[in-house]
Amino acid sequence: MLKKVGIWGTGSYLPERVMTNKEFESMVDTSDEWIVTRTGIRERRVAAPEEAVSDLSAIAGARALEAAGVAPEEVDLVIVGSCTFDTYLPASACLAAEKMGARRAAAFDLETACTSFIYGCAVGAQFIATGMYRHVLVIGAEVLSKFLDYRDRNTCVLFGDGAGAALLGPVEEGGFKAFDLGADGSGGELITVPAGGSRMPASAATLEEGQHYVKMNGKEVYKFAVRVIGDASQKALDGAGWRQEEIDMLIPHQANLRIIESAAKKLGLSMEKVAVNLDRCGNMSAASIPVALDEVVRAGKVKTGDRLLMVGFGSGLTWGSMAIEWNPGQR
Ligand code: ACO
Repeated sequence: MLKKVGIWGTGSYLPERVMTNKEFESMVDTSDEWIVTRTGIRERRVAAPEEAVSDLSAIAGARALEAAGVAPEEVDLVIVGSCTFDTYLPASACLAAEKMGARRAAAFDLETACTSFIYGCAVGAQFIATGMYRHVLVIGAEVLSKFLDYRDRNTCVLFGDGAGAALLGPVEEGGFKAFDLGADGSGGELITVPAGGSRMPASAATLEEGQHYVKMNGKEVYKFAVRVIGDASQKALDGAGWRQEEIDMLIPHQANLRIIESAAKKLGLSMEKVAVNLDRCGNMSAASIPVALDEVVRAGKVKTGDRLLMVGFGSGLTWGSMAIEWNPGQR
């Protein structure tokens, strides 16, 4: 018999430095007004020069363990979802586990861009459901600021740095009710970091051309996002057997306020039931959803028994959703 799996505790970390929209006005041809009206973003956090994904992950992860009342040595597996890892080798999850003192844990990285936290929870939950592991720490963390071309107004104003984490464990009642995951590589060119991999190894020329920075076709991604966020949400609802009006809280990926509002409208939800942090954090890719989750949990906006729907989309193209009945006490 498969075990039920839930989230025992959450944590997050945002770097100290706040970068406002105004600061971009002297770098590129943009304005605070354009950024706010087209995206909803007002400011974002930027990691310090010495901060990388494993550092942010370790702080968010330790906070989730503390909230769950689980010691680092009790963690069986650490999964770090990101697209801005410390290095290609080794995996950032190994470094984060070491920094947290999770020395008994297996550790690996997972990369599905902004959907990484949803994929990470789906993967982590399988280990617990089958009884192989008891405590799985899933982290979404990004230091996107180090992959941005601050001469490209189409991308540099959109992203921010941060990390969020959730400790998954078996529960008696509630917990994850459904996952929906998807991928479509035919849209792979819409959001890329072209150079530095085996397709286009880093060279003086790629550096010169800025091919190691994030490139995005915003318009096409926007159309994809509006379509998929509704479809994926509905699939998780169907899997859980919930009606739209039974959702207590929607925690969507935070790319653009207009995309979030269209998702809320499709689901018939008022914006009071939608977690939003992109005004303060920008798009933190894999970190957006777990940071937003931790914020609503710590603000006391989620009660035991509440029905939460999380939905993400991003480079790949990838998308994913999950329905969870909030029940952190039911071990
Ligand atoms: N300041 C001023 N003007 C700008 C800026 C800026 N920062 N950025 C773009 N513009 C200009 C464009 O150059 C364009 O000018 P043009 O008409 O002269 O060519 C004009 O504004 C309109 O551009 P659009 O792309 O049509 O603007 P839009 O309203 O679509 O907003 C945005 C652009 C915000 C990028 C939007 O398309 C969007 O949010 N897309 C989705 C992004 C997303 O969801 N990403 C998620 C995945 S990220 C990941 O996986 C890591």
